[in-house]
Amino acid sequence: MRHGPGWNVRAGRLSMMERQPMASRKKSQQRKSSSKGATRRRRADGPTLAQQADRYALYLASVQEPSFEVRFFRTAYRQVFGRDTEPRVLREDFCGTAAVCYEWVKGHPKRRAIGVDLDPEPLQWGRQHLAARLRQTTRDRVTLLEDDCLRVIQTKADIVAAENFSYWLFKTRAALRDYFKAAHANLGPRGLLIVDSMGGPESMTEQWTDQRPITGPNGRFKYLWEQQRINPIDHHCRFHIHFEFRDKSRLERAFSYDWRFWTIPEVRELMLEAGFEQSLVFWEKEDKDGEGTGRYRIQESAPNDPSWICYIAGVKGR
Ligand SMILES: C[S@@+](CC[C@H](N)C(=O)[O-])C[C@H]1O[C@@H](n2cnc3c(N)ncnc32)[C@H](O)[C@@H]1O
Repeated sequence: MRHGPGWNVRAGRLSMMERQPMASRKKSQQRKSSSKGATRRRRADGPTLAQQADRYALYLASVQEPSFEVRFFRTAYRQVFGRDTEPRVLREDFCGTAAVCYEWVKGHPKRRAIGVDLDPEPLQWGRQHLAARLRQTTRDRVTLLEDDCLRVIQTKADIVAAENFSYWLFKTRAALRDYFKAAHANLGPRGLLIVDSMGGPESMTEQWTDQRPITGPNGRFKYLWEQQRINPIDHHCRFHIHFEFRDKSRLERAFSYDWRFWTIPEVRELMLEAGFEQSLVFWEKEDKDGEGTGRYRIQESAPNDPSWICYIAGVKGR
């Protein structure tokens, strides 16, 4: 969870002090004017860091933690189907750069992964920057499909994953149920659909920007998660990811999301309506100071923290 787009959960819960309420907007205007001066000086020296930035590398460093995801998927599968079972085939829907697919196949020579995304650009970025780091025999076990996740294919998976709230792009019960039906059909006789979910009063505060310092492949930068609009009547919401660099240049709206803010009970009901026998909620365990441990366990009750992220699994063939 790093951060689901919003946060770096896997490294522990959101640290509230980093959030920037409205008041700092003035500060950002001041920042803008002072950075104007910096911009003028910089022009003489060449392109800004923002102009040179690679948004997929920044995204991966800010909001994805493939090694955590892969460990969690295997643990959840064995918790549901037994410690003597071993998931081999992972299907990563809405895969983007397919970073989780490439991490999955590194874990065992019998593992295979299927990455599905409609957009050829992140798929190509993944081939060039992630697959390229793997041995031929390892990357050959990843199949990328430039395709719609709603399409059912021959090759069945043990786990279908839809992370970073990608399924929130479906805004009606019928549309989300159809996606869950497709995921169910893309699983073998038994398997798990694993999605993440976020919530808590703060995650529904609009016109609120969370920012965090991140150390990426090309040094430190700031990751900004803007909660621009959340309509309480239809739960339609708009979020943006911005990046800010040491030279104060910014990559505005590097990624934007037009989503529906789904709740856990809605998602669980739709998983059952789509054919899953059961749905389970994996909630992050807290340490004695109430801090997130990065370990998740099946729960039916939890504190409504200011902001939280959890996993929801649909079970097939238990
Ligand atoms: C938020 S990104 C998620 C990237 C990655 N899964 C992650 O965990 O960060 C959503 C991705 O879903 C893709 N996408 C949107 N609708 C899709 C669909 N119907 N079928 C396949 N991919 C889709 C977009 O192209 C985009 O790359």
